[in-house]
Amino acid sequence: MQQVYLNNAATSFPKPPQVVKAVNEALLNMGGSPGRGGQRMSQAASQTVRQAREEIARFFGAPDPRRVIFTLNATEALNLALHGFLRPGDHVVTTVMEHNSVLRPLKTLEKIGVTSTRVEASPDGWVEPRQIEKAINVNSRLIVTIHGSNVTGTMLPIEGIGDVARKHGIPYLVDAAQTAGIVPINVKTAGISLLACPGHKGLLGPQGTGFLYISEDIDLEPYKQGGTGAYSELETQPEILPERYESGSHNTPGIAGLAAGVRFIADIGVDQIRAKEKHLTELLIKGLRDIPGLRLYGPLDTDRRVGVISFNINGMDPATVGELLEDQGGIISRHGLHCAPLVHHVIGTFPAGTVRLSLSYFNTESEIDHTVEMVARIARRGYSSPWYTALTVS
Ligand code: ALA
Repeated sequence: MQQVYLNNAATSFPKPPQVVKAVNEALLNMGGSPGRGGQRMSQAASQTVRQAREEIARFFGAPDPRRVIFTLNATEALNLALHGFLRPGDHVVTTVMEHNSVLRPLKTLEKIGVTSTRVEASPDGWVEPRQIEKAINVNSRLIVTIHGSNVTGTMLPIEGIGDVARKHGIPYLVDAAQTAGIVPINVKTAGISLLACPGHKGLLGPQGTGFLYISEDIDLEPYKQGGTGAYSELETQPEILPERYESGSHNTPGIAGLAAGVRFIADIGVDQIRAKEKHLTELLIKGLRDIPGLRLYGPLDTDRRVGVISFNINGMDPATVGELLEDQGGIISRHGLHCAPLVHHVIGTFPAGTVRLSLSYFNTESEIDHTVEMVARIARRGYSSPWYTALTVS
């Protein structure tokens, strides 16, 4: 059976051959760890990591590559930003559209006296910059929002929120888990102080990669300490970047793959990638919205969203629909709450959640047609799977 991978919001698949090659080459040829040894292969590993940092900085309009800090994923980047920046008594302005990777650190930080205001969203997941502004109080020290929702696909107006942040002199942390590599982002023009990105989603790198960009005016307390290769004589964590935040050996093969992913995207052009994903999203929305009994969430206008599409079929559990899609149509989706429980209160799908289809540059029109056809068959309940009726909630 044909397989259609539509779970790119969780991790992108497939990866470009250039990414696979870069990871392989690092594993085959790079017998060294960056900064851990003066021999040729260790120097090559250092150079790989340095170049990756430079390419990422260029891609996101960041002037100083040393301020790109490699992490395991976007979650680790967000934790570094939140735990490293916030202090007792600080107030944070955030939204109900956030992922648990923001909500849970903020909940933990309540224990040391950090408070937050979660700004409400419209039923399609939109947050107005002036609502963010209204939530600012005298103790507000950080604004943190998602860029593209991993449930509704809604893109929040980060430039407008960045303007609010600048006007009030409050740093702005953006969670770009669903947009990095898919939607153009320039940290300078968008007024972003901290940008958290996964390497393994839109940037097409391997899992176990990600980074945090930290602007020049921000100092974070490092939440881990350890070996940094250089400055070993110091008893304390070095002040210099990126070492201040990068203790322990790097994921050099992963970072080599991430850099190859960024190069792949830069060569095509992120505008082209966005245009293709928008086109496929339009096709999918057009096909799904006409299916009787199907409810789509998030904006229909593709200018206001990314290719993350949630839906439910009247009377059916999302888990059942997800299983039928894979079992009968070879379609890989994700169902449930997607680690963003508050979004489901916004769209009225808590606690069962939604079925989510998330696209990438590598999907095709025929895959979209097949998916629409399969969803339509499931919704018509004319499907002949022996366990279809048993699993279906009427
Ligand atoms: N946050 C990722 C997702 O939405 C893992 O699937």
